[in-house]
Amino acid sequence: MDTEEARALAQAFDPNHLSAGFYENPYETYAALRTFEPVHRCPDGTLFLSRFADLDEIYRDRAHFSSDKQAVFGPKFGPGSPLYEHHTRSLVFNDPPYHTRVRRQIVGALSPNALRALQPGVTELVDRLLGQLQERQRFDLIEDFAAAIPVEVIGNLLRVPRADRGPLRGWSIAILGALETELTAEERARGNAAVTEFTAYLRGLIAERRSHPLGETDLLTRLLQEAELSESELLQNCVFLLNAGHETTTNLIGNGLSLLLNHPESAQRLRSDPQLIGTAIEECLRLESPNQLGNRLVTSRVTIHGVTLEPNTYLTLCIGAANRDAQEFPDPERFDITRKPNRHLAFAAGAHACAGMGVARLEAQIALLRTLQRLPRLRLSGGATRARRARFRGFVSLPAEA
Ligand code: HEM
Repeated sequence: MDTEEARALAQAFDPNHLSAGFYENPYETYAALRTFEPVHRCPDGTLFLSRFADLDEIYRDRAHFSSDKQAVFGPKFGPGSPLYEHHTRSLVFNDPPYHTRVRRQIVGALSPNALRALQPGVTELVDRLLGQLQERQRFDLIEDFAAAIPVEVIGNLLRVPRADRGPLRGWSIAILGALETELTAEERARGNAAVTEFTAYLRGLIAERRSHPLGETDLLTRLLQEAELSESELLQNCVFLLNAGHETTTNLIGNGLSLLLNHPESAQRLRSDPQLIGTAIEECLRLESPNQLGNRLVTSRVTIHGVTLEPNTYLTLCIGAANRDAQEFPDPERFDITRKPNRHLAFAAGAHACAGMGVARLEAQIALLRTLQRLPRLRLSGGATRARRARFRGFVSLPAEA
């Protein structure tokens, strides 16, 4: 693509009308936006930002930017709808003091000790799944592996009885899917039904936990101790927690396996030097960020790249673009499992930075390393299918053979 084509691509960019090719590979468009339209005005009046330095600053600046989404989700979901209730009450789409109160309990339950305690269970689960793959020889790395891990881990964190976990993934995909830039009536209906069913289920679980609290290490027990939370706030934060760690982590594992299997020399290096797993996972997070888009609302006037952002302007922060910005990452398109430093924004930054990043890292490190070690002949067998999603980047299917 020459300079004029890239400029035209950036100027015409409309996140509400994306092509099939964009879902397959958005990075050419993101590069054009970073270069020619770092603060791009979309046809609907919102702004789309793509440079690392801008996102890093905005994520850390609470004086000018808010996470509150009521003004945007009212028209999108309909005030009073289950999706509106859910997405406006969870901590991630709120500001202090409410956000601070809920976050304190979550961070408290996910301490380094709590993470260490998760490790043997995750290793056992991953090994069991890999044993099944070995027996089958041909399988889907998403359905039969990546998707099976987060549901167990997050289910264990909230101590959801194993027999109840079946619908969790479907609910999660329907609810988070409703955050996509383009939303059909059917997707909206599916999202609303999922919130209704999910909260109905959680009411029973919460009543049970209230009568039998499980102590300081249990996430749900801790949230129940937060006396100022209304029943609805409690329910919606539990739904959010069960969702937040789900599709994102499945996608990290799936994207990571795809990257490594498409770069056999890196996979081989990791097999012979397992110490590299930490930097390797950070590089997977950077290059194929599972959560590609974030949002903020401007609360007071501020200027970026000569563009004045007026109060009430809605911003989309493109993590997927920022994480390939050459101003921050030398040779940014290269997959380098030893990259250091690697200050990517895959978990965002600042006060809302992902509270579950330790859990996600733990799962991905164990899953990817054990897979490479236990399946030395693992290879993709073609037919990989990407999800048609701009916000949550991952595969629906990743067929492989051992
Ligand atoms: C690879 C996996 C994951 C990715 C890429 C990811 C990404 C993110 C991002 C970008 C945010 C910030 C959203 C914003 O402010 O706009 C966030 C927030 C959050 N994430 Fe994650 N996440 C992952 C896994 C998890 C897991 C496993 C959990 C729970 C165990 C979790 C819990 C949360 C919570 C509670 C917040 C809200 C934090 C706050 O608002 O203060 N996430 N995540």
